[in-house]
Order: sequence, then C-alpha cells, then structure tokens
Amino acid sequence: MKPSKRSHVPAFQVMSITDEIARRRLAGHDVVSLCAGEPSARPVPGTLKPAGYTGPLGTTPLREAIAGHYRAWYGVDVDPGTVAVTTGSSGAFQLVFLAAFDPGDRVALASPGYPAYRNILAALGVQVVEIPTGVETRYQPTPALLDAAVAEHGELAGLIIASPANPTGTMLGRAELAALADWCRARGTRLISDEIYHGITFPQPGDPDPRGVSAVELDPEAIVINSFSKYWGMTGWRLGWAILPPALVAPFEALASNFALSPPAPAQELAMNAFTPETYAERDAVVEGFARARALILDAAPALDWGTAAPSDGAFYYYSELGPQLERHGGATQYARALLEQADVAVVPGVDFDPVAGDRAIRLSYAAGEAAVAEALERILRFQAG
Ligand SMILES: Cc1ncc(COP(=O)(O)O)c(C=O)c1O
Repeated sequence: MKPSKRSHVPAFQVMSITDEIARRRLAGHDVVSLCAGEPSARPVPGTLKPAGYTGPLGTTPLREAIAGHYRAWYGVDVDPGTVAVTTGSSGAFQLVFLAAFDPGDRVALASPGYPAYRNILAALGVQVVEIPTGVETRYQPTPALLDAAVAEHGELAGLIIASPANPTGTMLGRAELAALADWCRARGTRLISDEIYHGITFPQPGDPDPRGVSAVELDPEAIVINSFSKYWGMTGWRLGWAILPPALVAPFEALASNFALSPPAPAQELAMNAFTPETYAERDAVVEGFARARALILDAAPALDWGTAAPSDGAFYYYSELGPQLERHGGATQYARALLEQADVAVVPGVDFDPVAGDRAIRLSYAAGEAAVAEALERILRFQAG
C-alpha cells in the first residue's frame, strides 16, 4: 500500500545537513555549524516534579503567566482564557491551521519563508499562495503584493507573517504590520502572526518597540503564535503557545484534546520561571551575544563579496545571495556542499525557504555565537580565496 498523497511534502534540508554534520564530527572533523536556528540550551534549574496530563490548553498558571508577558513587553491585556499552550509553535501551527482553514482554502505567505508553514498547509489540503518578496519590501508582504496575489489567485482565507522572519531575519515595523492587519480585516482574511523570534532583536536606543510589535496589539482577531524555543533557548522542551480570537478557542480546544491530549507537563512547569526579571535579564544577555556575532558578519560582508543580503533586523539569521560565488559553484546547494567538504563549515542553501529562487542564496545562523562565527568567517574567506 502507498503512503498518502498528503504526506508527499519535502523534508526540511536543515535537518539532513544536521545529520551530515554529526557524521563528519564522528569521523573526527572539526565542523563549525552556522546551520541550525538553535540557541545553546538553557540550563535547567532545580528538579522537576513527576507530571501527568494537564488541560488541553495548558495549566491555568502558565496561561496567566503568558498573558502577563504581553502586559510586560507590549503593554496589552490578553485574556488568559484565549491563550493555548502547545507542543512547540510547530504544534500550534497544526492546530491553528486545522481550526481556521478548510481543505481548498487559500492561504498566502511570503517566499522566502519558513518551510513548515507551506508544508503543513499542503498536508492539510490547503492551497498555498506564495508571495515572492525581495529586498525592496524587506522580504515581507505588503498590501500591494496581497492585492496582486488576490488578482491572480482569488480571495485569501489567511495570511501568515513572521517578524523577525526565518530565513531573512527581517521585521515589520508598527505601520507596516498595521497596514497588513487592516488589509486582512477589510477582506475577511485571517492574520496569523509567527512571533517566535520576538525579543531576539537589535533595537536602536529609543526604539518604541524594542521587542517587536505583536499583532495582538493591533487586532483582537489576529492569531499570534510564539514559543519558548528561541528567546528562552528551550527547543527540546517542545513548548509554545497561541493567542486565539475568542471564537476559535472552543474549536481549538476540541482539536487539541484529540490531537495532543495536553502539552508537555514538565516543560510547562519549567516555563513558569520564564517571565521573571532574572530570566529576562539572563536571556537578554544571550541576545547581546547574538548581537556581537551579527556584527562580525555585517563587518565581514564587504570581504565576503556576496550579492544582495536581507537586512538582518532580528532573529539570528543572515540571508544573502551569493553573487560572484554563484558563477563559480553553479548554485547555493553546491556552494554549501563544497564549503562543508573543503572547509568544514555548515550553512544552509536557500532552497528550503524558497523553492524558486532560493538556490541563489544561503542562510547563516549566528545562534552558535561569536567564537563559532569568527572561526567560520575566517574559513569561508580562505575557502573563497582558494
Ligand atoms: C519562524 C519559525 N517558526 C516556528 C519554528 C518552530 O519552532 P518550535 O516548534 O520549536 O517552536 C521555527 C523553528 O526554527 C521557526 O524558525
């Protein structure tokens, strides 16, 4: 018997590069990886208690603590009853898409973009409308691009945005996000805002929105998705959350109670200390390290002599076309392979994020920190000179 047609989604290349890195390290290579979008894991304080299932939307204290985080960072009141704790933001995508869309609905997203949006939607029978973006709109959708998408494909049931985005790191300012929210409200399009990289931002002094602008500040009908994986460095604990419009809470809860029973209980217990002044200070210090690593890449950009790069506003990504290196290697996939084989530096070709134009670009993750980035840049420059 054959696997289902819906399971024919491309695998995430980053994960196979991760396997290749492990294989080379086992064989004794000193590999520097700018591949995974993963900060080093946060130490676990104390001992966790034995845990059973919790409610399908998470524990009440954690849902209240998450609502409190919105007051602390954005000055906005969120009803804890609309907060759903999930198995990573990945778990939130599955349940949100199921609760919000029917097979055949059209949902738009920016390309390049995080591949799981496209692949989960496709597996659910939702029609994905890719919006090609470039440096002129900071690789973000705009009302004009959405109008063009509607003219070509028809009305949109949803729009997924990410700010800071993966793979580009670019952000939407308050005015740009408000314009998208207005557009969605006017057309009856659901706005889903992936805010997983909020807090991993590099604001100028005096920036009124130093953590990023949350869609809940602008539109009570928006769906916000976030996670403990990135700012809090808790990838393996598999914990995230969604903030839902009130009408979606009951359907989401019914789906969650069937698909996951409950989000992971030990992770929820650990996450209870995520919103203290001490933890914010600890995590902000980690972000300062990302800022130093980012500065190394930005300083090295002229010497790297690549092509157009996305402004690396936030997250820990630098996405750049390869310029002259493309002619030499033929494509970003070949460039990344040669760099790994000849210089033991792992980077990600853009094809995961943009199946059309992505083979012209690579993504560097500077989550590995300053020392790894410094070493990788030296090796890249030597590799390109050779
Ligand atoms: C933009 C974006 N959203 C969501 C995720 C999923 O993260 P998690 O399921 O660990 O919350 C990632 C992971 O890299 C990401 O880059």
